[in-house]
Amino acid sequence: MTADADDIGSNNSFNPTFDSILAARFSRRALLKGAVGVASTVIMGGALSACGGGDGDNNDDKLELGFSAIAKSVADALTVPAGYTATALYRLGDPINAATLDYSNNGTESGASFAARAGDHHDGMHFFGMTAAGAYDRNASDRGLLVMNHENITQVFLHANGPTTVNGVRTVADEVIKEMNCHGVSVIEVARAGGTFAYSKTSAYNRRITTFTEMALSGPAAGSNALKTKFSPDGTKTRGTVNNCANGYTPWGTYLTCEENYAGYFKRSSTDNLNRTAPEVAGLNRNGITQGAAGSYNWTTATPADAADTSFSRWDATKLGTSTDGTDDFRNVANTFGWVVEIDPFNATSTPRKRTAMGRMGHEGAWPAPAVAGRPLVYYMGDDSRGEYIYKFVSTANWDPADVNGGLAAGDKYLNAGKLFVARFGTDGAGTWLELSLGVNGINAQSAVYPFAEAADILVQTRLAADIAGATKMDRPEWAAVDPRNGNIYVTLTNNSQRGSVAQPLDAANPRYYADPKGSATQRGNNNGHIIRMAPAGGDHTATAFTWDVYLFGAQAHADVAANEADHQANVNLSGLVDSNDFSSPDGLWFSQATPGLLWIETDDGAYTDVTNCMLLAALPGTVNDGAPVTIANKAAPQGTGGAAVDVSVTTKMGLKPTNNTLRRFLVGPAGCELTGVAETPDGKALFVQIQHPGENTTVAQLASGAFESHWPQGGAARPRSSTVVITRNDGGKIGLV
Ligand code: FEO
Ligand code: CA
Ligand code: CA
Ligand code: CA
Repeated sequence: MTADADDIGSNNSFNPTFDSILAARFSRRALLKGAVGVASTVIMGGALSACGGGDGDNNDDKLELGFSAIAKSVADALTVPAGYTATALYRLGDPINAATLDYSNNGTESGASFAARAGDHHDGMHFFGMTAAGAYDRNASDRGLLVMNHENITQVFLHANGPTTVNGVRTVADEVIKEMNCHGVSVIEVARAGGTFAYSKTSAYNRRITTFTEMALSGPAAGSNALKTKFSPDGTKTRGTVNNCANGYTPWGTYLTCEENYAGYFKRSSTDNLNRTAPEVAGLNRNGITQGAAGSYNWTTATPADAADTSFSRWDATKLGTSTDGTDDFRNVANTFGWVVEIDPFNATSTPRKRTAMGRMGHEGAWPAPAVAGRPLVYYMGDDSRGEYIYKFVSTANWDPADVNGGLAAGDKYLNAGKLFVARFGTDGAGTWLELSLGVNGINAQSAVYPFAEAADILVQTRLAADIAGATKMDRPEWAAVDPRNGNIYVTLTNNSQRGSVAQPLDAANPRYYADPKGSATQRGNNNGHIIRMAPAGGDHTATAFTWDVYLFGAQAHADVAANEADHQANVNLSGLVDSNDFSSPDGLWFSQATPGLLWIETDDGAYTDVTNCMLLAALPGTVNDGAPVTIANKAAPQGTGGAAVDVSVTTKMGLKPTNNTLRRFLVGPAGCELTGVAETPDGKALFVQIQHPGENTTVAQLASGAFESHWPQGGAARPRSSTVVITRNDGGKIGLV
């Protein structure tokens, strides 16, 4: 399989204000200053800087982007605006203790050594400020714990000559141990140093969490039959976390890591369905744990040193035993993944807890609404596969600020009991959160698809419950972010190659289908993605009603005028993007907490990469309903109809179109990477982003010849390394502003 399995799965089910006046946010000076600039800073590795930049802090409410747009580029370089410094802070293989040697970056380190080295494919990330005494302090900026995911691996670069496989069998067990250790989470202590940040190699907080780390299963599904395995006959624990994509955080100072494309890691024999019940098969199929799948990287084929060790064989979800409850094999093991996992970074020996109350799906992340004392906590969650849904979790317990620094015990209080909801988008800009509870919205034991007998069934088979409730199939929900000024909820819908198919017809919330030539291929569907936003009724995040519009449509700036793309008509670049801000496949999102109103947008793209590598943009969005209705005359033939030309016009609500003053490209990454993970210090003067899988399209043959897609960040002939990058301003000001 390819290294980056972001785009898997599909939903084959069949389903059907807080208005505020747009503030005059832009000073006349901003309107006069917004030209695309040419000056920029390029780093091939380490830190370089350039002169220029702005004039310090901007604390007034008239936000103004203060940098020159970075041009689109396919160069193998990371580029930020003049006046900024970008430093590779924490790279694949970097040691997290003094006993571990520096990384050779030639594939020769042992698998075990990665229990004390940075993993691969850096992804979601959060900065937890800390006091001198080592407690969480949401206002501390000079020192903190940076906690990040390692979603996946670029297998070819981890071993001296790529993976060793003989007739499909992984004959070198240490390589598999290395790959398993390169997944998971890192906790590293960082502090300001010389105008930027560095991580400590000797901090007692430093920690790697991997696919080997024991985890507790907590919440209502813990101990249920669906979670029982040979490793945990009582269904209360499992080993490890995998495919940790994006993330979340809690107001008490813990980290949430989210298990996205876990399904692909599991093997199932080609005849397993014969031995399973109909509901089991329905659950396995709906979650993409496919009969006949070999499992990612063939981990199950490795032979352990100790024959009793099930570290490799536990990735086989085939029913092999004779028990009725699954306690003699790993038939249920995939049910112990697909969760939101809480980690206490301030307690390096704590056992992470999988929070089953938040449901099981291809969890992209879990993003909080602002915590309000005396009110429930609310988390927004995307399920990133084609045609999947947007969810929210509302805690039963009301927030008590006295629980700050309460660790996992606070998590037990807020994240083990609550209600799950899934979003349905109407055609008129109105929407509803549908409750996923027994006896509500058709979810009950009489369901023909899956008999929901107890609350745990809904949590383990969340997708099936959401199908029955009638959720809206979305164009791959990725990150969410809540605007701290007004509570508007933004969700990236990255792209969807199946939009326009019979199973996923166009609708108001997913309104685009078009053909997009790339080289000799023609991409179809919603190729460039969009960003939807919602305003909860009355500004109350627990409300079940909301209004919505489409904030931005991704597109290439010249999509609608390219001579060879007549299908487009005027229906692709609907947001009027220009060369300084056009983008494709939005993924990461972060509303600055230091600068309310400033939104960072990251891309994970494969559609526009013939023109530009992935990027980071800064945006100053308005509010839901600041634009106007638009009717989109989709021209190309939907998929699944034999290619017959069908024109489908869809009317939707679109936000006010951006300008170069309200959406501008800040950074372009090196070749083959995605931009993901975004965190800031509370003072807004350091921004951390992840460069995930530079050079991921390099083959084993190219490894041998030295013709890598990327050599970033070290440059020269070096192998590329996924890395955390910290961005600071040379004059010490807030990132992104004048
Ligand atoms: Fe791992 Fe949905 O990106
Ligand atoms: Ca990726
Ligand atoms: Ca993502
Ligand atoms: Ca993605």
